[in-house]
Amino acid sequence: MEVKSAYIHIPFCVRICTYCDFNKYFIQNQPVDEYLDCLIKEMQGSKTKVLETVFVGGGTPTALSYEQLKRLLIAITNIFEIKGEFSFEANPDELTLEKVQLLKDFGVNRLSMGVQTFKPELLEILGRTHNTSDIYQAVTNAREVGIPSISLDLMYHLPKQTIDDFKDSLEKALAMDIDHISSYGLILEPKTQFYNMYKKGKLKIPNEDIGEEMYEYLLERMQHSELHQYEISNFGKIGHESEHNKVYWKNEGYYGFGAGASGYVDGERYSNVNPVNHYIKKIKNNERPLLNSTRPTKEEQMEEEMFLGLRMNQGVNKSRFNEKFNLAIETVYGETIGDLIQRELIVDKQGFISMTERGKVIGNVVFESFLLNV
Ligand SMILES: C[S@@+](CC[C@H](N)C(=O)[O-])C[C@H]1O[C@@H](n2cnc3c(N)ncnc32)[C@H](O)[C@@H]1O
Ligand code: SF4
Repeated sequence: MEVKSAYIHIPFCVRICTYCDFNKYFIQNQPVDEYLDCLIKEMQGSKTKVLETVFVGGGTPTALSYEQLKRLLIAITNIFEIKGEFSFEANPDELTLEKVQLLKDFGVNRLSMGVQTFKPELLEILGRTHNTSDIYQAVTNAREVGIPSISLDLMYHLPKQTIDDFKDSLEKALAMDIDHISSYGLILEPKTQFYNMYKKGKLKIPNEDIGEEMYEYLLERMQHSELHQYEISNFGKIGHESEHNKVYWKNEGYYGFGAGASGYVDGERYSNVNPVNHYIKKIKNNERPLLNSTRPTKEEQMEEEMFLGLRMNQGVNKSRFNEKFNLAIETVYGETIGDLIQRELIVDKQGFISMTERGKVIGNVVFESFLLNV
């Protein structure tokens, strides 16, 4: 399996959001320069140097100073030849004209901005650093320097968020003629501030029905926009789908560089250690900065092929399944597929198995059906 993609993790943020359990640390007093040295060293060690997609995420890559960002960009573009998509995650208030010009100068051709909502009260509850006008300014800056593809992240099913609030944020994003939207329902993650508040009875999350209603509205509204759905939570104009994320959903290989990053290389799924200091220490000792590593069995690989592929509207490619596993999909999953088709949760069409609209709303039920040996 040839690796053609890389994920690069920057685990620093200017403020920690109330709901976030990603691998991120408050940037102040962190050894950021030392971290970058180690990250660069890890990337230099990779076998493949020609890549189709690179995604720099976090944490928040734009939390780096201009000089740090420049050093990172010089290193990435010296080490790798990037043939296709070069994406960066960004927070709106940090996307200054200077920083976005720098990104453009080094070939970044896609930005994914963490907007979450346009409503000031909700931005406050989420602990975000930006306000509504920062969102407009960031998009203006990105367009001014000529970034060809701009994506916004929007969250729903938030505390105190009404359906009208969500509709309003979606309209505001669409009114900007944005190229791509990712929209995620809130997941209440343990060890977050939200979770602790919830446990103490100090945070009310709208009930599940509201979350489902918001998602159904999202699907319906996007059908009447230029952004077509191509994955459960992702919508893009033609030519603006995230090529990098499609690598994950097609169950293809990718490198993961940096603290807490995961990768899938030559049949090995691995994750790097999370704490920045552990990561730095391992790299300095010339050790792999591994937290864990597994080699999925053939059965596990088939399950992954289904879970990941079904996330895409296109679905699972039956002939690719056959090529990868040397087995027809019907031989492995014939009964399950028949049952789910009858329940109108999936369809088998033009060589692909994909979820129906109803299937997407209760996606977990569909995914569970594809577990082998339960
Ligand atoms: C981890 S952030 C990294 C990028 C950037 N720092 C930001 O905040 O946008 C990527 C996206 O994950 C989503 N996200 C993070 N925590 C989440 C949670 N608990 N539930 C749902 N979505 C979440 C948000 O939409 C966010 O934009
Ligand atoms: S959501 Fe983004 S900005 Fe907020 S803490 Fe998580 S990674 Fe940092």
